[in-house]
This record gives sequence, C-alpha cells and structure tokens, in this order.
Amino acid sequence: MKNLITLFALSTLFFAFGCEDDDSGMMGGTDDDGGSMITSIEISGPSNPTSYNLEVPSYLPGPIIPEDNPLTVEGVQLGRKLFYDPILSRDSTISCSSCHQQQLAFTDGQALSIGIEGQSASRNAMSPVNMVFNPNNFHWDGAHESLEIQAIHPVENMLEMDADWEEVEERLRNHPGYPQDFRAAFGIGNTNELTRELATRALGQFERTMISGQSRYDKVVSQNDGFFTELEEEGKQLFFVEFNPSDSISHPGCSHCHNAPRFGDNLFHNNGLDSVASLTDFADLGLGGVNGNVFDNGKFRTPTLRNIALTAPYMHDGRFSTLEEVLEQYARGGHGIEGESPFLTPFELTPEKQAALLAFLNTLTDEEFINDERFSNPFE
Ligand code: HEC
Ligand code: HEC
Repeated sequence: MKNLITLFALSTLFFAFGCEDDDSGMMGGTDDDGGSMITSIEISGPSNPTSYNLEVPSYLPGPIIPEDNPLTVEGVQLGRKLFYDPILSRDSTISCSSCHQQQLAFTDGQALSIGIEGQSASRNAMSPVNMVFNPNNFHWDGAHESLEIQAIHPVENMLEMDADWEEVEERLRNHPGYPQDFRAAFGIGNTNELTRELATRALGQFERTMISGQSRYDKVVSQNDGFFTELEEEGKQLFFVEFNPSDSISHPGCSHCHNAPRFGDNLFHNNGLDSVASLTDFADLGLGGVNGNVFDNGKFRTPTLRNIALTAPYMHDGRFSTLEEVLEQYARGGHGIEGESPFLTPFELTPEKQAALLAFLNTLTDEEFINDERFSNPFE
C-alpha cells in the first residue's frame, strides 16, 4: 500500500515537473543510488516576508503572538493553503477544513468528527476561532500547549488524517508550488529545510488571524450599533447575572465560565454532564487524562459560545443536538458529584426564559466572520 502511494506521488511529481515552465527557480537533483528520487532541490525566488497587519477590535483582548512565529502575509497565506489542502492526509481525501468548515464557524455538524475512511474521531470538532487570545490549553482537555504543537496531531491521528509527517514533508517538498511558498514565508533555500515545524507555524499563523468579533452582540454592546430586542435583553440579563450563594433564587450564571468578551474562560470545569459513581468512571477523563490527576477527571475546557448557534452538536462528545437540550441540562443543575463546579445550580427554565436565553445566544453569531474571504478556501 505504502509503495503504491509513493509510486503515485512520484508519478504526479514528474507530471507536475513536466508541465511546469521554468521560472519557478527550482533545480532538480537525483539521489546517490542513481534512482529518480529527488532528495533536495535548491529554491530561489523571492523571500521578503511582510509583516501581517492583524486588526483586533479594541473591545477584544490583546493578541498573543509567540515571538518565534510572528505573523507575515506570506506565512498566513501558506497556512491558509495548508488548512484547505488534503495533501496533509494519508490518502489526500481530508483537509483540516473537512472538519473545520467556515460556514459552521469551522466545525463540522457531526457529534463526533468523521476522519479518514469514514472513521469516527473521538471527540466533537471545536471551533478554532479567536485562538489568538488563548495562550494555551488547546483541545477539550487542554492537551496541547500551542497551536503549533496542536497542528502536528490531526495529521498523524489515525482516526483523523492518519498520515505520516515524513511522507507529508516529502509530498510538500516535491510539490510544484509549496517549496516557493515556504521560501516566501520562512526564507528557506533548499527543499530539505521544508519541515513539519514550518508547516505547523504557517497553520498557527493562519489560525491566529481567524478573529470573530462582528456579531450582533459586539455591534450592540461594543460598537453602539443597533439594539437588542426585549427578549435578547432579557436573555442577556439571565446569562450574565452572577450566581450568588446567598440568593434564594438561583440563576443560570453562564458568564461565570463563559465570560465576555471571549465567552470562554480557557479554564477547566466539570459542568455537570455525567452522573458517575466514582471519579474513575467518566467515559472521557478530560483534563485528568492529560495530567493524571484523578480530581481533574471529567473536567473540560470551557469552549467559546461565539457562533454557538452554528456549531451543533454540543459538548466534547456532541451529546446534545440542540441548544434547547443544553439549556435543559444546565437547568437541572449538576448531579451533585465530586469535582463538579459549585456554580451549577438548578434554575427554573420557563419557556420564556428559554426563549430569552436562546435569543441572546443567537446574537453571538458573526455572519461577517463566516463569510470573510480571508478565511475561505483559497483553491476555489
Ligand atoms: C477528522 C476531523 C478533524 C480534522 C481533519 C482536523 N481537526 Fe481540528 N479538531 C477536531 C476535533 C475532534 C477537535 C477536538 C479534539 C480534542 O479535544 O481531542 C479539534 C480541535 C482543533 C483545535 C483546537 C481548538 C481549541 O479551541 O482548542 C484546533 C486549533 C484545530 N483542531 C485545528 C486543526 C488543524 C490545523 C487541522 C489540520 C492540520 C485540523 N484541526 C484537522 C477535528 C478535526
Ligand atoms: C462551571 C462553568 C460553566 C457554567 C456555569 C456554564 N458552562 Fe457551559 N460549558 C462549560 C464547560 C466546561 C463546557 C464543556 C463541557 C464538555 O464538553 O464536557 C461547556 C459547554 C457548553 C456548551 C457547548 C459548547 C460547544 O461548543 O459544544 C454550551 C452551548 C454551553 N456550555 C452553554 C452554557 C450556558 C447557556 C450556560 C448557562 C446556563 C452555561 N453554559 C454555564 C462550563 C460552564
């Protein structure tokens, strides 16, 4: 099987080279055993990465950009291509964008994502928006410390893209366009300098530009543009009122964890989904599975609620198909088990309160973001 793929890759390579005109600046070479495998090619051509002007609305937090991976126009553009290119998967059928679709705020509409050959991934696809404000804790369980490290994993995950990075690097090196793109973004002079580290840096750069901050909520609250309806306003009150243990009436208190403006606190909580007899009984251990601390079993990172109306199904395992079900779950309160957040108390969910909360959650949808050309498929 592997040989077949190599053969296929080689034949496309020759095809590509055969069709190319000569201004690409690439010079071929052959490897030592006299075979036709090209080991390293010098890349010439432009390499003056230009700084990318990231526009962050003043009402959003300050962007966090790692020193060793500043945003450049060329890097972001390369990252965008890689994000949409199935070349990163074993059989070239799946790209990051298969599970992270722009119209669904970069989710996939599946309870559990569907990876290569129709396999089920182990969790629900997250919406990678506003990643530039998150210093760490990527994934539901916070397993990855940076976007660059995160991007290594879907490519290798056998349930997702199931590729071998060595082979992906080879494909990118032998591609008619990518060596030039990597040179433009990172100044490499030779195809053997084209590595997974650079690919993931480019992906990280692109993802850091994916900022959602033009929802109705942002317009009304931060841009003085328009008004909430009465129902939305009521939902906003319910969402933001803080839980106070001395109150006789308990409130939804959503903003305790889903706090504005990110609508997620980047911290871990057990939000009361499962009733388990013991802390070791969670089907998915969450944070505890990462750090080995049994008291963190069942805790997950609070995801953002921005664009939440577009990202069903919900929770790390996609157990709820609608926001109505989510609200009913929170209204029941937790199960009173160890480790659950004390901020989950049952509250009365009248049809009116439910409609109000839903109306408010719908104001977090950002149509401009999901239609923004800068984040769309560059191959279309
Ligand atoms: C098969 C579907 C699938 C593919 C393909 C896929 N992802 Fe994901 N993505 C997921 C799932 C599922 C999660 C949640 C993973 C977890 O928590 O274990 C996720 C999580 C993420 C996150 C974390 C977001 C956060 O808020 O922490 C980022 C970033 C991300 N993916 C980027 C990518 C990139 C970049 C690629 C391509 C290299 C990619 N994904 C390919 C399904 C996919
Ligand atoms: C104690 C902190 C906390 C409170 C309070 C809280 N949440 Fe959450 N929320 C979380 C965590 C953690 C998750 C992820 C849980 C998981 O998937 O296992 C989550 C998940 C969600 C999701 C699913 C998001 C997705 O992308 O799948 C929705 C919707 C949601 N919460 C809405 C609300 C609403 C509405 C309220 C108020 C009624 C609320 N939350 C109160 C912590 C909290």
